[in-house]
Amino acid sequence: MIEPCTYVIFGATGNLSRLKLMPALYHLDVAGRLPEGTMILATGRRPWDRDKWIDEVKQMLIAKARNGLDENLFNKFKQRLYYFEGDLSDQNMYPAMRDFINNDPQFPQNVAFYMSIRPAEFGTVVEKLSEGGLLKEEHGWRRVVIEKPFGYDLDSATALHQRLSRYLREDQIYRIDHYLGKGTVQNVLVFRFANLMLEPLWNRNYIDHIQITHSETLGVGSRADYYDTAGAMRDMIQSHLLQLLTLVAMEPPASMEAEAMRDEKVKVLKSIRSISPSAVHAQSFRAQYTAGVINNQKVKGYLQEDKVPKNSVTETYAALKLFIDNWRWAGVPFYLRTGKRLAEAQSMISICFKHPPKQFFRSSQIQRLRPNWILLGIQPTECIKAEMIAKEPGLEMNTHPVSLDASFRKDTDVAKEAYEELLLDVITGDRSLFLRYDEVEYAWRVVDPILRVWTMERDYIPTYSAGSWGPKASRRLFEKEEQSWRHSLEITEHE
Ligand code: BG6
Repeated sequence: MIEPCTYVIFGATGNLSRLKLMPALYHLDVAGRLPEGTMILATGRRPWDRDKWIDEVKQMLIAKARNGLDENLFNKFKQRLYYFEGDLSDQNMYPAMRDFINNDPQFPQNVAFYMSIRPAEFGTVVEKLSEGGLLKEEHGWRRVVIEKPFGYDLDSATALHQRLSRYLREDQIYRIDHYLGKGTVQNVLVFRFANLMLEPLWNRNYIDHIQITHSETLGVGSRADYYDTAGAMRDMIQSHLLQLLTLVAMEPPASMEAEAMRDEKVKVLKSIRSISPSAVHAQSFRAQYTAGVINNQKVKGYLQEDKVPKNSVTETYAALKLFIDNWRWAGVPFYLRTGKRLAEAQSMISICFKHPPKQFFRSSQIQRLRPNWILLGIQPTECIKAEMIAKEPGLEMNTHPVSLDASFRKDTDVAKEAYEELLLDVITGDRSLFLRYDEVEYAWRVVDPILRVWTMERDYIPTYSAGSWGPKASRRLFEKEEQSWRHSLEITEHE
């Protein structure tokens, strides 16, 4: 039996809440997963009453509900919705909210606070929650969900951590990385640790290199305020892509318990060779998009986007080469890459195997057979593929690559959103898909040296046309001539 809770959403009228949180809570309710009695208390500055809020949520769901909004199910869901008008910076708001929750028996005394607010406000709001008596666990638990980014660099992350630790125990803090809620991301673990076939190959003896790619066709949109201060390295690599790397590279944990998993993930991050200032150029690459064409539509360059300073050198593309100095991975390069306004929207992990020791089936001395690949499609296609070499039909001994393709999801299956699982885990108290502070810290340790060098080089940034795969010059990261960016889950020649 899972106990119900009061889900307080700070910043409920913002984008994340509209696009992700409210739809996720609705879908959980529709699936019968929200414990009976769970209430959702939205907070925001707008002078709205409960009816207005219910109407707003309805509009959000009309836009975002899978299979459209079901009136009957919504009528049930709306019983859970309340609105609390308040300004986060107002000291008096917090005791008023405490009384609001305490005095109405409808509100369960287990309370989760979701910080869908500006990162600069995380510390202050937690402090005020504590001063307002909202963090006291007298009649139920109190948990706080912190959105990314957790800090701006190592120093600010440490400062935020110290501040939060004054008011919260580590087990009350749920640092979210929504990538960990994605089905295929969790499948990396199942694939690796529920099958025996691959584990013997999963190391430096057989793997040539690993690529982790997240590409988007979208631009910065309406988020320039935040994005221009962050850039692709902080926005995607420090968090999501390094998390993917830990799952691909970690040792089997002692169990699937949260702490056992997190211990192994931290070990990977700790083993990443630190990048010295003189190695930053050899191991990282950044660039910014200029105007171009995507899906036959002309799109603006980054500097022409709303609210982007005209002289911004913020990177919208970042690529990185990392080495994990441990027994399993010594010498195997991990190439991480992300960008906005690229040719296709795709997240995938591509594992390239070494060549067999002797190449028998080739027609000339120079021709090399393609290596084997294992591809994990994360989105939009969720799949595992293995590329192998087979003989072409016919009398000649010619070979060609074939792809063994296992899709996880039939087209008729409905994909769940990452936030659904994570919001539910907060209620059940399962922290395995949330980040422990040392994971955040060691991820900052990986990217901090690069960011420090980039911050000093503020007068120039390479560019790429929107709709391309990014600058060709990023090829300089590759260790070997035959390595190249893999853009597709299909068998094609790479860049
Ligand atoms: C967010 C980043 O964390 O992840 C965005 O801030 C990025 O810039 C997004 O677009 C990608 O997430 P998803 O789930 O759409 O792949």
